[in-house]
Amino acid sequence: MMLKKLCCFVWLVLYHLLLPAFVSSKDHGNPANDLVEIINENRTALKLPKLNDSPGLGCMALQYVELCKDNCTGNRAVNCKPPEDDFTEVFAPNCGVELPTFGTITGHIVGCESKYLQPSEAFSHVIIKDNKALSLLRNKSHKEVGVGLVGFHKGPFFWCILFSDGQTNSTFVLEDRGKGIKQKTGCYSGSTFPCSYCAWSFHSIL
Ligand SMILES: *[C@@H]1O[C@H](CO)[C@@H](O)[C@H](O)[C@H]1NC(C)=O
Ligand SMILES: *[C@@H]1O[C@H](CO)[C@@H](O)[C@H](O)[C@H]1NC(C)=O
Ligand SMILES: *[C@@H]1O[C@H](CO)[C@@H](O)[C@H](O)[C@H]1NC(C)=O
Ligand SMILES: *[C@@H]1O[C@H](CO)[C@@H](O)[C@H](O)[C@H]1NC(C)=O
Repeated sequence: MMLKKLCCFVWLVLYHLLLPAFVSSKDHGNPANDLVEIINENRTALKLPKLNDSPGLGCMALQYVELCKDNCTGNRAVNCKPPEDDFTEVFAPNCGVELPTFGTITGHIVGCESKYLQPSEAFSHVIIKDNKALSLLRNKSHKEVGVGLVGFHKGPFFWCILFSDGQTNSTFVLEDRGKGIKQKTGCYSGSTFPCSYCAWSFHSIL
């Protein structure tokens, strides 16, 4: 009982510490875009070319993690393997990615955490958590990147990064520039919609 009360107290303190940061990230814009910037800073520090932000890839990254919402393991890893075909049969149509422009996905990174993390923390603790992820980030084949993130009611937060070797503006093109996407929750990079926080409840921010 005592422990439970203490936990509640810690949670309340955390909530008050985190909320302003959370809201300022909201004012500032989209944490998925911040992650694209962080990814590019990390690459350009090694003189690797910058990756173009692809809203089509970002939207599919968000779809990917929405599908994996029940599969966060304790270890910040996501135990989830959507069938390959889901990309072309589910994610792309849901996003309005024009199928003839569907390119090659050269890598993906997925991670989860029980609470919201600021983009730089999410990058170093959840996304690039081992050397395998770091070498994927630094692969010379990538030309484009998309980031999706989402948090669930009382549940964990998920991040997904998709890379592609496609040419800018000609792969993963969104119909009508993405105006037709029915985004219920979460954020993706390059989106014209603001992040939707309705599923990011009081509990999931903690
Ligand atoms: C999520 O985990 C469950 C239980 O382990 C598994 O049956 C399911 O296939 C997983 N979902 C995906 C999309 O991989
Ligand atoms: C980089 O990615 C490409 C495409 O997925 C792959 O064929 C290649 O082996 C990767 N290179 C390294 C150094 O991992
Ligand atoms: C790139 O990210 C890795 C993993 O977080 C980190 O160890 C490294 O210092 C970063 N490099 C730069 C230049 O920020
Ligand atoms: C891609 O499209 C954007 C916006 O339409 C444009 O500013 C940019 O120059 C284009 N890039 C290439 C490589 O065509």
